Amino acid sequence: MSSLLSSSEIEFYNTNGYLILENFVPSHVCNLLREQAKHLINEFDPGEIKTIFSTKDQRHSKYQYFLDSGDKIRFFFEESALDEKGELKREKVLCINKIGHALHDLDPVFYSFSRSHKLAMLVNDLRISNPLFVQSMYICKQPHIGGEVTCHQDSTYLYVKEQPVTGFWFALENATLANGCLWAIPGGHRTPLKSRMFRNTSVEHYDKTPWELNKMTPLEVKQGSLIVLHGLLPHMSKENTSAQSRHAYTLHVMSGDCEYPSDNWLQRPNMPFSGFC
Ligand code: FE2
Repeated sequence: MSSLLSSSEIEFYNTNGYLILENFVPSHVCNLLREQAKHLINEFDPGEIKTIFSTKDQRHSKYQYFLDSGDKIRFFFEESALDEKGELKREKVLCINKIGHALHDLDPVFYSFSRSHKLAMLVNDLRISNPLFVQSMYICKQPHIGGEVTCHQDSTYLYVKEQPVTGFWFALENATLANGCLWAIPGGHRTPLKSRMFRNTSVEHYDKTPWELNKMTPLEVKQGSLIVLHGLLPHMSKENTSAQSRHAYTLHVMSGDCEYPSDNWLQRPNMPFSGFC
């Protein structure tokens, strides 16, 4: 397979733990994905799950809904999108925080997009052998209510011992300081894993020293950019206080030559992980 990345791009990624590839996705494809997500949300009937998200004491049900989502297309609300009776405070498409976690397998549009030859080339350049998709997410980061995502390493949630997962973050709209772009600590991927979340939702802490947030740099990108994120890279995003949404599609990929732990939160008992073909 021919290569996509230059040697300086590979070096940048190895040094910093992230890489921005501008114009990776044409704008009409970004818009197609946005339209498809909108269609899925419009088709989705919130029904019973509104009560799960509206009351604070539904923690167990909320977790179960999340834990069972590895091989499904499920919808997660922004925290402040529902009132105490479970009624949406505004239009449904403006209430969804994210859709996860098997869009790449179950939705034809996201299926095709995720398996592009260009992404396969990139994955090959990153030396991910026998790549498998672990999860996909469509993240809305809604105007005014899009919540903060605190600093974390993706390997906390998707742990793979031999070779950490790699995240692919596609900006389907411009991501700016105002609408809650990603922030990351350059070179922070050399930090050992600080904590790990298990299937039973317990979290094991290996290093409780706080993140050096003063080392964070904003990753503002234009629509169509792809940000590649090493699984150990500390990253975060702030609240979206602007009137603009910040839609993104993300994929996490692991090498099929590694073992995927059976005590990670994400399990797919009825659907094995798939790859590019
Ligand atoms: Fe993340």
